[in-house]
Amino acid sequence: MDGAVTAPRGPPGPGSDKRRRWRRGEPQPLAMSSPAALREGYEHFDPRAYLRNNYLPPRADFSSEEFVVPWKLRCLAETFASGEIRGRTLIDVGTGPTIYQLLSACDHFEEIVATDYLAVNREELGRWARGEPGAFDWSPFIQHVCKIEGRGEPWQDKERRLRQRLGRILPIDVHRPEPLGTPLRPRADALLSAFCLEAVSPDRAAFVRALAHLGNLLRPGGHVLLLGALGESFYLAGPARLPVVPLQESDVREALAAAGFALRELRTYAMPPALRTGVDDVDGVFFAHAQKPLEG
Ligand SMILES: C[S@@+](CC[C@H](N)C(=O)[O-])C[C@H]1O[C@@H](n2cnc3c(N)ncnc32)[C@H](O)[C@@H]1O
Repeated sequence: MDGAVTAPRGPPGPGSDKRRRWRRGEPQPLAMSSPAALREGYEHFDPRAYLRNNYLPPRADFSSEEFVVPWKLRCLAETFASGEIRGRTLIDVGTGPTIYQLLSACDHFEEIVATDYLAVNREELGRWARGEPGAFDWSPFIQHVCKIEGRGEPWQDKERRLRQRLGRILPIDVHRPEPLGTPLRPRADALLSAFCLEAVSPDRAAFVRALAHLGNLLRPGGHVLLLGALGESFYLAGPARLPVVPLQESDVREALAAAGFALRELRTYAMPPALRTGVDDVDGVFFAHAQKPLEG
């Protein structure tokens, strides 16, 4: 330690750095977001706008692996291809209105439990799970995952399997020690969470606490897979402008260790200029595979 720590701050102007240095002896910087401000921000979250911003071109362009969505899908496909991460239940934390993150996972678990804090997101997800008209079209994502998994599986079979295994869509709050309200027994064999914890935590300490809360959902020896934003301080979802804890790769390593997980793999992706569309100020994406140690 050099006597300095960094603290997150609110959405900066263009070109400004996203983290502010704080030196001992100076007044502690005020946190720009609080749990209450975050909750209020999420009241304005528009699932359709969020899907447009992140899951249509240019970000969801399958013509090249250089784009961010194919990168995320490949991380997940390669990790699940090892066959090591499997079991009865996988919980996806902060699923939002999206299912792309479950496409490789669904082959390895009897039940996928989706979760989100917002009813509007759980409803959007339910529309897709029930195959209702007007649901978001995830078929390009499913086709791409079938292609990279390379088993020649018809994409409609994967779509059907995910719908069958998506058993429950539950409310969650990662800021509670028991995020689902009541303990899930038996505990999950694996957890997945994409772009949730840093987007719902007022600061890095809360991010670490939320990660530790997720640990309560997982059996000893269980796996956790995290996708998340690097260097992001805000994102847009329609009228909502949500503050994000700007994380560096080292923060992700430190947070996983502090929350009691053993890191297995960490990959990073730098957001190319063409994908910096103004819907957020993300610098890159991380993918982490970690494991909860066996007890005793
Ligand atoms: C950036 S979105 C991520 C959505 C999706 N997983 C993805 O990969 O695009 C963050 C999600 O966290 C959810 N969320 C907000 N507050 C939360 C909380 N306290 N606990 C769990 N999830 C929360 C939001 O409703 C939203 O769906």
